[in-house]
This record gives sequence, structure tokens and C-alpha cells, in this order.
Amino acid sequence: MKILLTGGLGYIGSHTAVEVINSGNEAIIIDNLSNSKIEVLDKIEKITGRRPKFYQDDVCDISALKKLFAENPDIFAVIHFAGFKAVGESCKEPLKYYKNNLLSTLNLLEVMESYQCKNFIFSSSATVYAVSEIMPLEEDFPLGASNPYGRTKLFNEEILKDYQSAHPDFNVILLRYFNPIGAHESGLLGEDPNGIPNNLMPYICKVATGELDHLNIFGNDYKTKDGTGVRDYIHIMDLANGHIKALEKMTKENVGLKIYNLGTGTGYSVLDIVNTFNKVNGNLVKYEFTSRRPGDIAECYASPSKAEKELGFKTTKSLEDMCKSSYQYQKQNKK
Ligand code: WQD
Repeated sequence: MKILLTGGLGYIGSHTAVEVINSGNEAIIIDNLSNSKIEVLDKIEKITGRRPKFYQDDVCDISALKKLFAENPDIFAVIHFAGFKAVGESCKEPLKYYKNNLLSTLNLLEVMESYQCKNFIFSSSATVYAVSEIMPLEEDFPLGASNPYGRTKLFNEEILKDYQSAHPDFNVILLRYFNPIGAHESGLLGEDPNGIPNNLMPYICKVATGELDHLNIFGNDYKTKDGTGVRDYIHIMDLANGHIKALEKMTKENVGLKIYNLGTGTGYSVLDIVNTFNKVNGNLVKYEFTSRRPGDIAECYASPSKAEKELGFKTTKSLEDMCKSSYQYQKQNKK
């Protein structure tokens, strides 16, 4: 089957493209390269032996989208990764985020309708959940994003719910990611943010390779086992596999609208990550405790049981695998 991956050259998109191809499907990628590199296309081909059909276009450009579907009228499903995703930037430039992250979805729904493409998998996020003292998070917990980026994820979920209820033969799976980290075992694909990383693991990797001096741990006074923030880190390959499980479900039945957490169900603290990273890669990461980062919460981790039960989803990679593969990628791709 033909699967369209928007943002398919990005961190999550590219790892998923590899698994889409490895599961015997054809991957088509649209990506405007605003936060990804064209070389990733060669790496996907090198890993899988297949080169995805590639469109260097913006999903917000509906004429480009129409052209893509006219050339590929038999696309079975769209996996929609494309979107801006920096929390801090979204607070400074909310309109840029709302326009890009919402218009892309509206365009896709419009064009998919005219080509009877009825399967939509959306890259959602744990950030849509309202702040909760109760953990683990379950799919029916209250929603309430706390920043414009998170609200674009939440609003996209609502748009997809409304569209699906108006078109019962249209199928939507919302996948709420927790904290994806790690890299493909080849070391060819990985997380490669532009500039100084916001997220923990890419920052740690740059400290380990000497590009940054030390890690600032944002707060060690949270009500957690060691005072540092706890998150549900999931290996990028396990996350990619979650998308394959969602696709498989769509080939078997009309799912209507389904929502799944993609996490491990285990929370690890920042110190757990640093200590594990130093254990498996050599004692490379120095750190200092600094003040909390505004907007951070103490704990966030998933209940993955619904995905396990309904998708047959199971995470297989350990925290050691996540730390080892992240560093391997960083070493192999150091600028
Ligand atoms: C993890 C932990 C920090 C950096 C973000 C987005 C979320 C999702 C995943 C897209 C926290 C601590 C971090 C650093 C640190 N993205 N930290 N020093 O904030 O859980 O989630 O990425 O959907 O929407 O908000 O991930 O990696 O930024 O932080 O101490 O230099 O590491 O305080 O406890 P986060 P993160």
C-alpha cells in the first residue's frame, strides 16, 4: 500500500518511513525541509534499499498537495508528522504555529476527501493532557494544553474528531507520543535539531561529544524520587513501530476514531537518564543543577495498556538502548 508521510524526513517521520518500507509498503514523503535535511532521503534508501518518492513541498500549499495526490491517487493512508514543535518558539510566535500546524491538517482533509483517501494517523503528543497529579496518564484523562504548540496538537485532535464524526467512513488514529529518544541502529538516522537543543537527550549528546560544556538540570526540587523531572522516554524505533501497528489495524477494519498513548509506562528522572548515559557511553556528561524551566511539570508518563490491548503495541527497547543509540548517532554525525 502507498502511505504518505508528511514531514517524513524529520526525526520521527524518517524512522517511521524506514518501518513503513520494511513492512512491505511504499512510502511517499512530502517535506519542506524547514526542520530536516535532504540527506535523510539517501539514508532511508541506504537502510531499506528503497528510495521513497519525495516531494519538497509545504503541506500548507494546497496546490502542491493536490498535485501530489493527482500523481498518487491511490494513497491508502496519511501519517501527518509535519509541524512546528518548539514549545518556547510557539510562545513567541503563536500565529506562525497556529497557521502552519492547523492549515496543514485542513488542507490534507480537503484533498484526501477528493481522492477518497480515508485513513489518517496523526502525530499527537502527551502535551495535550491537562496538568495532572495522577499518573500514569490514560487516554480519557482531561485535556488542556499549556502552550500554543500544545494547543495546536489539541486543536488538531478536535478538528479530526469533528471531521470524523461528520464522515463516519473516515478513519482517524490519534497517537499521543511521550518522550521519543534514541536512534536507528545503523547510526544513519537520529535526532538532529538545528541550534542549541531544547530537549534533554540531544543536549546530553552534544555535551558528550564536547560541543556543549555541561548539562543544566532544570530543577532538583520536584516531588520526585530524586527531585529531578520524570518523563516517559520511548525508543524512536518502538515509537515508529506503533505507527505500523496503527496502519495494520486500519487495513483490518474501519477504526472510526481511536486514541492511543505511545509510551513505555515507565517514568525515568533526568538523573536516571544522565547516569544511564554515562554508564553505557563512558562518563562523558557533566551537569549542574539550575532553576526549574517555566512550564515544566514534575512527572509525566503513560499508561500504554490501551495500545497494547487494541494495537498489539509493545515497547522492546531499554533505556540503555536509547542512550547508546543516541550517542552512536551523535558521534557518527558530529559536524
Ligand atoms: C525532559 C526533562 C526537563 C533539557 C518536550 C515537549 C513535548 C514533547 C517532548 C513534542 C524535563 C529536563 C531538559 C535540559 C533538563 N515534544 N531538561 N535540561 O519538556 O518533557 O517535552 O518534548 O511533542 O511537547 O514539551 O522534554 O526533553 O525538553 O525535557 O533538565 O537541557 O529534561 O526539565 O524534566 P519535555 P524535554
